[in-house]
Amino acid sequence: MDGEDARWVGSMPEVYERCLVGPFFTPFARELAARVARGDPHRILELAAGTGAVTRELLATCPDAEITATDLNPAMVELSTSRVPGPTWQVADAVALPFPDASFDRVVCGFGVMFVPDKKAAFTEAARVLAPGGRLLFTTWDALASHGFGHPLGLALEQVFAGDVPAFLEAVPHGYHDTEQVGADVRAGGLEVVDVATLTLEGRAEDARQVAVGLCTGSPLRAELERRGDLDGTVERVAVAMTRLLGDGPVTAAMSAHLVEAERP
Ligand SMILES: C[S@@+](CC[C@H](N)C(=O)[O-])C[C@H]1O[C@@H](n2cnc3c(N)ncnc32)[C@H](O)[C@@H]1O
Repeated sequence: MDGEDARWVGSMPEVYERCLVGPFFTPFARELAARVARGDPHRILELAAGTGAVTRELLATCPDAEITATDLNPAMVELSTSRVPGPTWQVADAVALPFPDASFDRVVCGFGVMFVPDKKAAFTEAARVLAPGGRLLFTTWDALASHGFGHPLGLALEQVFAGDVPAFLEAVPHGYHDTEQVGADVRAGGLEVVDVATLTLEGRAEDARQVAVGLCTGSPLRAELERRGDLDGTVERVAVAMTRLLGDGPVTAAMSAHLVEAERP
């Protein structure tokens, strides 16, 4: 995987927050934060926190906890530091965490692990910074076909780029859905799997265009589209194709993801 598949730069965090967080990420962030709150943890580390979809929920469900929210991309941390006050925000790569051993009760990661090339290394780092008995909780998307917004976006890309569809969506955000593999990687990192739940939640967007703009310009798919030239024209064609598939006006979609909970022995 090229580093570009995990890069949010320039306006991407702002577009991600405006177009994708509400429809795609907030429903799962609520579930994740509710699970994290069980056991009343005091020291919480969030990885791949992005624009703070999970962070905002953690501030509500764990109001007395010390929350450290981190992300690989400085542009994400910069935006979140001003928009989501409360936690300590800092740049950190999930595979090389700048924290001492056994310094957290919970490590939380909403839809970030798929972007880390070496999953086992990330789980090993999470285990290292967790206190004994501490838990890692994370979400990862199920297959692209199970996502009521991502799947039609893939169909729209097929219409626009007949025979030469960008691989990003299927290979990266939806490329880590085999729960056998996920469980094996978690165990290889030194954690015990406590629970793997597959959740199907509803997402709502203002219209199909919001989803098209969000995925094409607020996710790393953008880099692949930019290389092909005429990004604005591509976004327009994808938005029109998405609208044909999903209809005009507000759209809802079922989205499936796995929520994994693991414990440091
Ligand atoms: C789909 S976003 C999820 C953001 C947020 N957790 C949410 O639920 O909206 C993926 C995030 O993973 C971050 N990321 C990618 N690779 C990472 C890594 N190696 N370490 C930490 N964060 C990473 C990206 O910068 C991005 O913010």
